[in-house]
This record gives sequence, C-alpha cells and structure tokens, in this order.
Amino acid sequence: PLVSMKEMLEEAKAGGYAVGQFNLNNLEFTQAILQAAEEEQSPVILGVSEGAARYMGGFYTVVNIVEALMADYGVTVPVAIHLDHGSSFEKCVEAMYAGFTSVMIDGSHYPLEENIALTKKVVDVAHTLGVSVEAELGRIGGQEDDLVVEEADAMYAIPAECDQLVRETGVDCFAPALGSVHGPYKGEPNLGFDRMEEIGRTTGVPLVLHGGTGIPTHDIQKAISLGTAKINVNTENQIASAKAVREVLAEKPDMYDPRKYLGPARDAIKETVIGKMREFGSSNKA
Ligand code: G3H
Ligand code: ZN
Repeated sequence: PLVSMKEMLEEAKAGGYAVGQFNLNNLEFTQAILQAAEEEQSPVILGVSEGAARYMGGFYTVVNIVEALMADYGVTVPVAIHLDHGSSFEKCVEAMYAGFTSVMIDGSHYPLEENIALTKKVVDVAHTLGVSVEAELGRIGGQEDDLVVEEADAMYAIPAECDQLVRETGVDCFAPALGSVHGPYKGEPNLGFDRMEEIGRTTGVPLVLHGGTGIPTHDIQKAISLGTAKINVNTENQIASAKAVREVLAEKPDMYDPRKYLGPARDAIKETVIGKMREFGSSNKA
C-alpha cells in the first residue's frame, strides 16, 4: 500500500536497518524499483525530484504511474512517494495535492530561522494530511538535477542547530549534511560520524543520508548504527542503467526497439536496488 515514511522509518530505526530511497527517472526505473521491493519484501521510498517529475509529465503522472504499477504488479509492501529536495512551500503542497505521501522541504540554503519557519509551514499542512516531512540543514555537495552545490559551499550541519530545527518544526525525519555528496565521490567520502551520533541522539528522529552512491559498506553500517534510517540512492542506478544500454547497443548497432535496450536497463536497475536493500538490511522487513 501507499503510505507515508513515518512508520517505516521508525520501525527501521528501532530495528537497526535503513529503508532505501531510490529516485525515479522514468517508467523503467519505477518498474524496476517496485519489482525489487516486492521481490525482496522490503519497504521502499520512491524519491521524485522536481526535475524528474517534470521529465515524467508532472506530479499527477508520477502518482498515477506508481499506483497503476502497484495494482498491476500486486505490490503488497509499504511504498512511499516522496518529493526529493522540495524547493518551496508551493511545490510541496502541489505534490501533496497530487497524492505524494511524503515531502522533503529543502531550506538548507536559507539562514536557520528562515529554514525553520519554512519547514514548519510545510509540516503544518503535511501533518493535517498524514503526509511525512523531511528537512535538511548544512549543505550537501555535488549536483542533483536543478540543485548544484560547489565543493567550497558544502557545509557540515551544526548539532545545536539541528536540535533546534527538529524541536521547533516537528519533522518526521531529518537530513544533516555531514560530508556526503550527490553524484560520484572524488576519493573516499569523509562522513562526520561524531556529529551524526550527537544529532541522532539529541534530535531523536530517524536520520537521512543523502548521496548514497559510492559510500562503502562499513560507512553505511556505521551510519545505520548511529540512527540513520533512510539512505538515498540515485546515481548508482543511473550508472547501471546507462551501462546496460551502452553494452546492448554496442553489441547490436542495428537495434532500434526500445524494449530491447530499456528492458536490460530495467533489469540492471532492479539488480542494483536489490543489492542496496540487502546492504541496508531492509529485505524481508515489509
Ligand atoms: O536525494 C537524492 C540522493 O541524495 C541521491 O544521491 O545520486 O549520489 O546517489 P546520489
Ligand atoms: Zn539528496
């Protein structure tokens, strides 16, 4: 069923595992992620950036595709449709109105008080509708669609500010920027685990780790042990999908039926997602 993230993340935190947020890019991504979740009997969060929603048609299109696939596939595991890095109050409301069960309001580029005021405004509407809310503090480096943060502007979240934001807004989960990056890493990631421990302990809410592509397993496990209950992955699925298409088309340059190269891409995404679900510990937790 379609649900908010609230319960699945609280259960994950209590159970010592994390639920993956896998971003949608097109129909094949949506199919692959839902198939993986059902096969693994894992709860799942479908992340939708504003750019991806625009590409697919709009918020309604996304919700309708997800609902139709869930019915056709007979999906029984909990699924959340989540607006990723929502840029404004208006966009969050639009997504909720279209049927999203969860939203992120990303006010991380605003001064603290403004971020809190904006986040609180979204929470007030969302909670009236049973929709869950994620907020962010600090700045996650790298690029995801419209969101570009230069290396020099990436910032680690400050624990006291995180505590204040969570307390004053009532968000359901929280993403402190602690050195993770959108897109591939240059070298090994350097995650701020001391701050993660403190933020997890003082805020008490499930933490979210963005930029899940390229984080080594021991860091994933450490993050989970410190209260991380949601891990976002997009680039790794995009790389797997592009690789599959390249391979098929290189081998058969005369191929033109999209099903014959997008089908293998879909299989590659599904395999990648299944691997992540096992790594995060969410398999058989539905
Ligand atoms: O919000 C989405 C994620 O943080 C994706 O990060 O593309 O580096 O896996 P990634
Ligand atoms: Zn992100």
